Amino acid sequence: MQTIASPLDMSAWSEAERTAGRRIALVPTMGFLHRGHASLIEAARQRADRVILSIFVNPLQFGPQEDLARYPRDFERDRKLAETHGVDVIFAPTAEAMYPEGFETHVEVEQLTRGLCGASRPSHFRGVTTVVAKLFHQTRPHLATFGEKDFQQLAAIRRMVRDLDFGIEIVACPTVREPDGLALSSRNSYLDATERRAAICVPRALEAARELYAAGERDSLRLVAAARRVIGDERLAHIDYVSVVDAESMTEIATADSPALLAIAVRVGKTRLIDNCVLGRDA
Ligand code: PAJ
Repeated sequence: MQTIASPLDMSAWSEAERTAGRRIALVPTMGFLHRGHASLIEAARQRADRVILSIFVNPLQFGPQEDLARYPRDFERDRKLAETHGVDVIFAPTAEAMYPEGFETHVEVEQLTRGLCGASRPSHFRGVTTVVAKLFHQTRPHLATFGEKDFQQLAAIRRMVRDLDFGIEIVACPTVREPDGLALSSRNSYLDATERRAAICVPRALEAARELYAAGERDSLRLVAAARRVIGDERLAHIDYVSVVDAESMTEIATADSPALLAIAVRVGKTRLIDNCVLGRDA
């Protein structure tokens, strides 16, 4: 397994692999890898001859008051996990190489990123789509894998790829969870033991809404109320949003006709947790 830091070296490597007729998959991450990332690598491995794992904590997608400085990093551990899962290249560029002096071009998916996480993180998705566009150009993949854990991000990338004719297949991978239901996230490392116990209210809230949906309820307000009640019972948890949206456009819908996404963002202490489920699809 190689590690490449220079975007130009990365492009040269990919160009040679393409010329040799090989199919390339990209797995974009910010590192501090867990089983969720590993599932993305495995999905990539199954569909391509070469797998590139990018590790880049992208400053552009963090707001001024957010956790860029303390975002967890452990390159040695990531390297081992990547090697175990059959990654061919780790692409780990520096912020200076990605955003040199004078950088001023962005990619923005306008409507789809307005609501949900976009409402409280105004330039976040613009940072995500810009860096992913750059990573796509640098690594020239045939396909890329993304997690449904970040459903709005996945929807924004799909839209960008479609609108700007990237010609890259986007493969969505299901959310990997802890045994008690909490979705794996690099940010879970911020939680202390008490907060970790409190965080369980998020998957429980999804479960409550799913049960109601299974019993026939389709009114979004009632589904949202059921989820909110569960989170409301947890004193350490503060709701950012609980919404039922169209799973493609991310716009709020009054009736949860499929495909509908129930999406939740909650703060536990200083940690912001997000999770979701597709009503009528996820068991
Ligand atoms: P990061 O949070 O490191 O996540 C990288 C990828 O792993 C994303 O596609 C995310 O949806 C997926 N992922 C995270 N937790 C998961 C889980 N529990 N189950 C399945 N997949 C999971 O998302 C980013 O980085 C960045 O925004 C990035 C796309 C790399 C752009 O900077």
